[in-house]
Amino acid sequence: MTFLDQSYLQTSVWKPDLFKGKVVFVTGGAGSICRVQTEAMVLLGANAAIVGRNQQKTDEAAKDIQSLRAGSKVVSLPNVDVRDVKQLSAAVEKTVAELGRIDYVVAGAAGNFLADFNHLSSNAFKSVIDIDLLGSYNTVKACFQELRKNKGAIIFVSATLHYYGVPFQIHVGAAKAGVDALSNALAVELGPIGVRSNCIAPGPIDDTEGMSRLGRGEKDAAIARVPMQRFGTKQDIADATVYLFSPAATYVNGDVLVVDGGAWQVGQGAGQKDYPVTLKKYFDAPKGAKL
Ligand code: HXC
Repeated sequence: MTFLDQSYLQTSVWKPDLFKGKVVFVTGGAGSICRVQTEAMVLLGANAAIVGRNQQKTDEAAKDIQSLRAGSKVVSLPNVDVRDVKQLSAAVEKTVAELGRIDYVVAGAAGNFLADFNHLSSNAFKSVIDIDLLGSYNTVKACFQELRKNKGAIIFVSATLHYYGVPFQIHVGAAKAGVDALSNALAVELGPIGVRSNCIAPGPIDDTEGMSRLGRGEKDAAIARVPMQRFGTKQDIADATVYLFSPAATYVNGDVLVVDGGAWQVGQGAGQKDYPVTLKKYFDAPKGAKL
């Protein structure tokens, strides 16, 4: 099952062969958002390699995405943990052996759960920093020679929850703030060699792992707080991805493209609905209490 299908080629504004001959390397490509970013790139002519931890999930996603376009190649790279740069380097080697090159990199692998400060262990904080921030760094590190050779482009999947204080998301906010800083510095260092670096910051995107973990069953109320009066779709993020990798964005470098219907401008993050009641309720709850 894929989220996008052939109708994307008729209904989107993009040229069908936009990415012909190009290769995109995607961490988290078997997940929800990054999978659909990959689908759009493949529909528009790219070949792809997707990195994941789970063998079955990654293999199945690669097979499904490959079925979207006759002649496309989507390489499955399972059992790779982005916290391990050696595993990523081996994945890059395999990609180049099978697809010949890497032009675009999506650093999308992420970890998340809700935990208040009192219940967030030092190791739990470190785990998310390691997956989101170190993992993003490792991804670019492993792909660097290909990016340099092909004057490629990087997209980091960031978030908006570090623009203000969001309870239960200390670990993720800190990690994503780091990801934005990483992207900005790379844009400045790598720009002169022709490599662009940008972030996409998704807001509330429907039917994603993030929303199922963070949404806490308050969908209607959450939608009412979004200026565009709907949740985003995975296609909204895929379209932003296509734009940033396309020739239309060759002068866009060091930017954060927020795709959230204007939600963060309203200034109410996840978990802030009953602030500070929600905090008091969970802060001294027994370990493992459901948020
Ligand atoms: C408190 C928790 C916890 C929870 C784990 N920990 N879950 N603490 N509440 N719900 C703690 C553990 O007790 C442990 O600390 C530490 O975190 C590491 O846990 P492990 O299970 O050993 O880590 P690991 O197997 O590496 O798993 C990483 C993970 C996990 C992040 C904890 O959830 C994961 O792998 N997730 C990947 C998929 C995922 O999260 N996708 C969501 C992406 S959505 P101790 O002290 O006990 O050792 C997303 C959206 C962001 O990122 C933007 C939102 C707007």
